[in-house]
Amino acid sequence: MYDGMDSPDRNDKCWCGSGKKYKKCHLAIDEKLDLLFREGKEVFPRSLLKTSADIEGIKASAEVNIGVLDHVAERIGAGVSTEQVDQWIYDYTVAHGGIPADLGYEGFPKSVCTSINDVVCHGIPSPDDILRDGDIVNVDCSTIKDGYFSDSSRMFCIGQVDPEVKRLVEVTHDAVKAGVAAVKPWIHLGDVSAAVNKVVTDAGFSVVVEFGGHGIGLEFHEDPFVSFVAKAGTGPVLAPGVCFTIEPMVNMGNAAIDMSDPNGWTVRTKDGKPSAQWEVQVVVTEDGCEVLSW
Ligand code: MF3
Ligand code: CO
Repeated sequence: MYDGMDSPDRNDKCWCGSGKKYKKCHLAIDEKLDLLFREGKEVFPRSLLKTSADIEGIKASAEVNIGVLDHVAERIGAGVSTEQVDQWIYDYTVAHGGIPADLGYEGFPKSVCTSINDVVCHGIPSPDDILRDGDIVNVDCSTIKDGYFSDSSRMFCIGQVDPEVKRLVEVTHDAVKAGVAAVKPWIHLGDVSAAVNKVVTDAGFSVVVEFGGHGIGLEFHEDPFVSFVAKAGTGPVLAPGVCFTIEPMVNMGNAAIDMSDPNGWTVRTKDGKPSAQWEVQVVVTEDGCEVLSW
């Protein structure tokens, strides 16, 4: 095969561990991938195609990740510190058999990223950051369970939020939904990026260039990098089993960001205007995609 790995014989069991015969399982997909590769297209190696066992494992991890974000949603509000949010996340995740994937990741000191108003991403929870009426906050949460990774984030509007800021939050959510609606096998990853980007730019907002989504499942961050400024028709061709996140960072003003915070993590908009982000994790299916974490 194009990826240098062997294939079973037609009547032997599939390489994916489904127990089905190869000809009834991945044979057709593999032939398609091989053909695309020979046509010069960028395709995913089979090592990045999640098997049904992988997807079950990711779903069990995502059950904790979704549960923890639901838990936060029930409690978050004015007067709550981001330190408190971090504690809820750690306690819930551990109580449900998971490990917060952020904790200690490349030295990140907390269990979750909490990004308020002009913070674009990677805000560090702190007892000094107390949510106030009118704030918007992204809670970006990731879980490891039995070696499988899940990752999603949501925005929360605290009390009365300025209508234009609320629109930023809603447009960003709509952009993610448009991305999900676009995902299906044999299109280019850039087609998904373009669907997300169009919703944002049509609404007059801008997409951050430096950050994007990523493959995920057996590792926190796998290939590919998922840009939300990439053009339609570019990037690798999607295939069933490809698992990745859709997580655009959307600025109310221009796309420029400031990464100079001495803590080495917190990213802000350069113009000080608000930024929003929603994140879901999807897996490509035979005819579309399934959202695994939200
Ligand atoms: N959850 C982020 C993502 O969506 C990654 C955060 S890494 C951390 O990919 F170290 F900042 F937590
Ligand atoms: Co992510």
